[in-house]
Amino acid sequence: MRILLTGAAGFIGTHIGEQARARGHEVVGLDAYLAAAHGPDVAPDPAIARRDLRTDDVDDLLTDVDVVCHQAAMVGNGVDAQDLPAYAEHNDAATARLLAAMARAGVHDVVLASSMVVYGDGRYTCPIDGDVPPADRTDADLEAGRYEPRCPRCGGDIAWREIDESTPFLPRTSYAASKVAQEHYASAWCTLQGGRAIALRYHNVYGPGMPADTPYSGVAAIFRSAIARGEAPRVFEDGQQVRDFVHVHDVARANVLALEQVAQHRTGLTAYNVASGRTFTIGQMAETLSRAAGGSPPELTGDYRRFDVRHVVASPAAAREGLGFTAEVAPEDGLARLASDPLRTR
Ligand code: UD1
Repeated sequence: MRILLTGAAGFIGTHIGEQARARGHEVVGLDAYLAAAHGPDVAPDPAIARRDLRTDDVDDLLTDVDVVCHQAAMVGNGVDAQDLPAYAEHNDAATARLLAAMARAGVHDVVLASSMVVYGDGRYTCPIDGDVPPADRTDADLEAGRYEPRCPRCGGDIAWREIDESTPFLPRTSYAASKVAQEHYASAWCTLQGGRAIALRYHNVYGPGMPADTPYSGVAAIFRSAIARGEAPRVFEDGQQVRDFVHVHDVARANVLALEQVAQHRTGLTAYNVASGRTFTIGQMAETLSRAAGGSPPELTGDYRRFDVRHVVASPAAAREGLGFTAEVAPEDGLARLASDPLRTR
């Protein structure tokens, strides 16, 4: 197959390109080489077209393309409300332009990088009220060290539960809102165009080639960079927040499976969680990294961020059934290896 891969120079895009080529596919790569992601002195790979989807046409790159793999995006949680326009432009307007170009070129299939952040705080079980979204955590609770969310109805204790792809969208950040919008644009394009889209909702992705930490980095890059500086990982809240850490090799494999199978999917958008299926607390993850690096033990700071979700864990069952995807890298092995995996410095 001939694949147009956007974000081809990025962390996940690089691994997708490698795996797709190893499977015998032809990959046409494009990347904007944004200074925020690659630094001001970037030396672009001549094999990757330097195009910014917000402003540049890509019609020529779509010639004879069978399927598009859209990874280009502004990532991270966003720092404050001033980030909203940039997320909308990079992730939403740029995706809309790409989809319109695909329609002109007669390309009917797309695989889209989405995220578990579309679910926001996830879902919980209350012994009294059953299945509920959690109430927003208050500053008073967080300052008092009560990090677990409460039931929105009775205010009592609730327990997190694994969620599936039908869980309602509850975006909490600029990035999350842009990923929800991206899925909606792709869905509308499917209706207008008779197209097929697969949205892969990534969990916390880590592995070799992760960017070193920036204000937009996730926790794995932040801890890995702290270790590289000889510092202890700084764990927020009480370290008991639960996540699913999925290795970038598995994420790339899920993409290649989706690219190969999207044409056999129904018309419309199908979403799959891409997760390891194993839970880890942030504290355990910090311990695993520190131990593997022989570095200082993690520091529990008790700090908190208003926008953070407490726990989010989603079921990998649909990806197993719909794509034949099961993660192969066990998080305890992959996270231990992350301690010595090379970071992308820019
Ligand atoms: C992360 C990504 C999000 C991505 C999602 C799924 C970022 C900033 N977030 O969301 O874009 O879509 O995974 O792949 O890239 N923490 C610490 N110490 C720190 C930083 C964070 O303890 O120095 C804690 C936070 O309080 C939080 C947890 O680690 O509880 C995860 O934080 P983070 O990786 O930033 O956000 P996610 O919500 O997991």
